[in-house]
Amino acid sequence: LWTPDNIIEDSIARIRNQVGDDKVLLGLSGGVDSSVVAALLHRAIGDQLTCVFVDNGLLRLGEGDQVMSTFARHMGVHVIRVDAEDRFLGRLKGVSDPEQKRKIIGNTFIEVFDDEASKIQDVKWLAQGTIYPDVIESAGSKTGKAKVIKSHHNVGGLPEEMNLDLVEPLRELFKDEVRKIGIELGLPSEMVYRHPFPGPGLGVRILGEVRKDYAQTLRQADHIFIEELRKADLYDQVSQAFAVFLPVRSVGVVGDNRLYAHVIALRAVETIDFMTARWAHLPYDFLDLVCRRIANEVPGVSRVVYDITGKPPGTIEWE
Ligand code: XMP
Repeated sequence: LWTPDNIIEDSIARIRNQVGDDKVLLGLSGGVDSSVVAALLHRAIGDQLTCVFVDNGLLRLGEGDQVMSTFARHMGVHVIRVDAEDRFLGRLKGVSDPEQKRKIIGNTFIEVFDDEASKIQDVKWLAQGTIYPDVIESAGSKTGKAKVIKSHHNVGGLPEEMNLDLVEPLRELFKDEVRKIGIELGLPSEMVYRHPFPGPGLGVRILGEVRKDYAQTLRQADHIFIEELRKADLYDQVSQAFAVFLPVRSVGVVGDNRLYAHVIALRAVETIDFMTARWAHLPYDFLDLVCRRIANEVPGVSRVVYDITGKPPGTIEWE
């Protein structure tokens, strides 16, 4: 019988059987899948698990602290947090092509992860949050985003000499099953029911060149949008919502002063499969409130716009 409890018991037995007394490494991204793998492995093998969390400087507001507090502090999982902001932003300097940015972020992620991994002694296994749809996607077409998306989480570049075998306890599960297991394992529901967040993070939500000050502005605006969606009970009614930083400047007015500053676009969509999507028809009053808060609270923003493009013709992300 399929119940979260049975699946967990069964997975734990299989994991223990597979890895024995060996040490296991996991790249923790803060996303649902890797989080559930972390919780599951921790329950199955405790201290044999080491997680590496890479802060690439392209995370949402407070995300790194949240991951550390959930896993390290509350659950007692061994997590190594790597502050790699300078390394990522350094590599991205002067680069504005979206696919180039994706490639750089993916490669840098692998490098940083490898560096950390090679410092840990006697690791035999690499755990991954591969779920059933990932297995199907990679078996299918050789082109398209699925490959690209997974490439930097798959850590294909691990040093040969480490010779790690894979542990993929979610390989047979669908997303909704993964979520149920996550809840059963005690993960906070805000984490388990979070909107998807792309691997390249804010790197593809800052259009063109990625800069630290742009990332700071975007993080604040995005946080306000998400916070208000939660307050208004709208967060779970949309499939994905976020802010985008537009590096164009527009004239505004604050008090008696003319302001010449950047633009923030808000994006919210409703979708089942993320292949097509409808823009979320959020209430005008709600949008008005979010716009006012962003304009008042986030320095360097003169204007807020709402994206009313469906997919198609637009993609969900702007890059
Ligand atoms: P698009 O923009 O293609 O997005 O309509 C569809 C879904 O995929 C996510 N997305 C990505 N996820 N790496 C990821 O891990 C990426 O490079 C990437 N690009 C888009 C996007 O957030 C949406 O959920």
